Amino acid sequence: MRKPIIAGNWKMFKTIAEAIAFAEALPVQDEAVEAVLCAPFTALSALAEALEGKNIALGAQNIHWAEDGAFTGEVSPLMLKELGVKYAIVGHSERRALFGETDETVNQRLHAALKHGISPIVCVGEDLEQREAGQTKEVVKVQMEAALRDVTSEQLVNLVVAYEPIWAIGTGKTSSAEDANEVIGFIRELIADQYDQSLANQVRIQYGGSVKPENVAGFMAQSDIDGALVGGASLQPESFLGLVKGAHQ
Ligand code: PGA
Repeated sequence: MRKPIIAGNWKMFKTIAEAIAFAEALPVQDEAVEAVLCAPFTALSALAEALEGKNIALGAQNIHWAEDGAFTGEVSPLMLKELGVKYAIVGHSERRALFGETDETVNQRLHAALKHGISPIVCVGEDLEQREAGQTKEVVKVQMEAALRDVTSEQLVNLVVAYEPIWAIGTGKTSSAEDANEVIGFIRELIADQYDQSLANQVRIQYGGSVKPENVAGFMAQSDIDGALVGGASLQPESFLGLVKGAHQ
C-alpha cells in the first residue's frame, strides 16, 4: 500500500508571518494521508516550529548538491536537514525553464537529498508543444532515466515522483485523470524496467498541474496516482485541507 501524499508548493509566496498564520489555522492531521508544505527557504525555520505536533512535514523547493562551498544564492542539504526538512522538490519545471536546471543538475540535487535523508520530490513533464506532437512518454522517459541515474534500489523507495505536464501548471487546465494515470503508469513501468516490479510498486507518484479540492479525488481514484503536488490551491489553509481531505480514500 502506498500512502497518499499531498504536497503544497508555495513557490515564491508567503512571508514568515503569513506562513505562521497558515500553520496556526491547520488542525492536527491524521496518519492516513501524508501532508507536506514546501515553503520558501526564508520561512522554513518559523514554519517548522509552527507545525510542531501537527503531523505535517516540512519541505523545501530546491536543494543544492554540495554540502557547502562557493555557490552564491544556493542552500545546502545540511542546512535544510538542520531545519527539519523532510522533502525537497527537485527539478520543478519553473527551475528548469527559468533557472537553467538540467537533467544533470536535477540528478545531482536528487543524490544530495537522498544522501542526507531528505526525500526528493522529482518533477517531470512535457510542455504543450511536446504534448501536441505526441512526445509525452518520450520526454518523460528521458527525464526519468536522467533523474534516476545511479540511484540504488535502497534509495529508490525514499523518492517521490511528480508528473507535472507543464501546460497544466497554474493554467487551470488539468490533464484528465485517465490521461494522467496513463503517463504515471508508464513512469511506474520505466521504474520496473530499471529496477523491479515490486520496488516500482512502492514508489509514490503524484500528479501536479491545477489540482484543486474539487478535482483531487478524481485523480486519487486512479490506480497509479498516489497524491498531488499543488501550487495555487495550497496557498489557503481551507483549500490545502480540502486537498488533504480529498486524498483520503
Ligand atoms: P499549480 O502548480 O497547482 O498552481 O498548477 C503546480 C506546481 O507547480 O507544482
